[in-house]
Amino acid sequence: MVEQVPAEPTKILIVDDDASVRDVIGVLLGEEGYACTAVSSAAAAVDAVRHGEYPLVISDVRMPGHDGFWLLERLRDVRPETAVVMLTAFGDTEAAVECLRNGAADYLLKPPKVTELVRAIERALGRRRLELARSKYRRSLENRVREKTAELSRALRELEATYSQTLWSLVAALDAREHETGDHSQRVVRYSLAVARRLGLPERDLPDLGRGALLHDIGKIGVPDAILLKPGKLDDAEWREMRRHPQTGYDILRSIGFLEHSAEMVLAHQERFDGRGYPRGLAGEQIPIAARIFAIADTYDAMTSDRPYRRALSGDTAREEIARCSGTQFDPRCADAFLSMTPAELSELARPTAELPI
Ligand SMILES: [Fe+2]
Repeated sequence: MVEQVPAEPTKILIVDDDASVRDVIGVLLGEEGYACTAVSSAAAAVDAVRHGEYPLVISDVRMPGHDGFWLLERLRDVRPETAVVMLTAFGDTEAAVECLRNGAADYLLKPPKVTELVRAIERALGRRRLELARSKYRRSLENRVREKTAELSRALRELEATYSQTLWSLVAALDAREHETGDHSQRVVRYSLAVARRLGLPERDLPDLGRGALLHDIGKIGVPDAILLKPGKLDDAEWREMRRHPQTGYDILRSIGFLEHSAEMVLAHQERFDGRGYPRGLAGEQIPIAARIFAIADTYDAMTSDRPYRRALSGDTAREEIARCSGTQFDPRCADAFLSMTPAELSELARPTAELPI
């Protein structure tokens, strides 16, 4: 046989400065099965709810010292889940309305009839239970949303890292074809990002810029080996073929959603500030800012790297060259931003690291 555990009686706190009211209500409610505690002031009531658990408080409104309104306010801070039934004097309608406005569950005229009191208590307790259940449900929903959001952003981060690794591998394959090392790509991306930051470009635009810098020559995949790897000078026809690589790169990337903006930069990466670049001969601000920045980063890196047919130039000589071409090949604003970096900053950026810049 299952033994029934009797339900704990509901604890009620009675607050009234009048001892006879406290006693009468205490006895009546005791007979109805509630466990009552009585105190004679609002301050004592606050103390009691701090130390004990009272789902319901019955309080007088007019009391010497702190009154019932004060108690309502304090309860909101200390135990907002407490249901409060107020006792008001006959004719004190204003006080009754004020109590409800301040969060009381109900009010009764003094002296309350026991049936009315019990009805008010049960109604207030029922509403409290519902509110507690609701806020518990809301909290659990919020927790689930928070967990799911964390999971989602973790997954997105992983996805982004995978994208990025894939791009770097692709570029490594292209570099290998030209017998380049991957360091070149890393450096160009780092220089470009550093200049963009100096120019105050919004941080949200930087991944596109970095990916554009990384993939700038992807179109060279369409250039035949005989031209791409030709040791001597290219003839006119070969140059024409070579100059198609920005368009080829753009065509490869433009339909890939997250590379759409980078594709624009790839298309414009061989343009010159004075309009004498290719493929479209854009000039000045017609050239996307990302491409104007990249042009300097790429040229600086090319000049400061060894080539089969020449030794690397010193950093200083390369900087002089960039200053010289400011306003013709390069956007002067971007050139200034690049040249505002100290040689020490540039060599720090040039250092290959295990962590990829994008
Ligand atoms: Fe190029």
